[in-house]
Amino acid sequence: MLQRRNLILGAVGILLIIVIALQLVPGYARTNPPITRQIEWNSAETEQLMRGTCMDCHSNETVWPWYAQIAPVSWLVVNDVNEGRSKFNLSEVGSEIESDEMIEEIEKGDMPLPNYVLLHPDANLNETQKATLMDGIRATFGRGD
Ligand code: HEC
Repeated sequence: MLQRRNLILGAVGILLIIVIALQLVPGYARTNPPITRQIEWNSAETEQLMRGTCMDCHSNETVWPWYAQIAPVSWLVVNDVNEGRSKFNLSEVGSEIESDEMIEEIEKGDMPLPNYVLLHPDANLNETQKATLMDGIRATFGRGD
């Protein structure tokens, strides 16, 4: 009995050390760089929908959730945000915004990313909200080229 308990304690200890070691892996900093672009939203509703569904990954105003503090989940979250910002970043002058592409992604249901929707139930838009968001994107960012 005693031996078995020691084994379990040992295993828990090793796990703990692994989890702590994961936290020390560098290169997954959560950043919110300066905002250089001010968007003139067509309506407060568009802004609210965009903040709640897209801007955690496509702007520098990311609201980092608590689980983004803990490796290895943090690595996935930071990766998504960095990749999303690199596609287009609503906070930065010079980052090209293609309203047609945004609308296409929403229509196809590819954006917001499914794992994001799972953890942000409010980002699971109904058809009316989707239509409002797509209209708002057109009105705010133009029809695109
Ligand atoms: C959880 C983070 C996250 C959220 C939230 C998110 N995106 Fe993305 N987005 C990404 C990542 C990562 C990519 C690049 C990989 C890919 O295309 O799947 C991307 C790519 C894109 C692209 C480029 C697609 C391409 O093929 O190049 C568009 C357009 C886009 N997102 C629009 C949106 C819109 C609109 C919303 C809100 C309705 C949104 N995204 C929400 C992370 C996100």
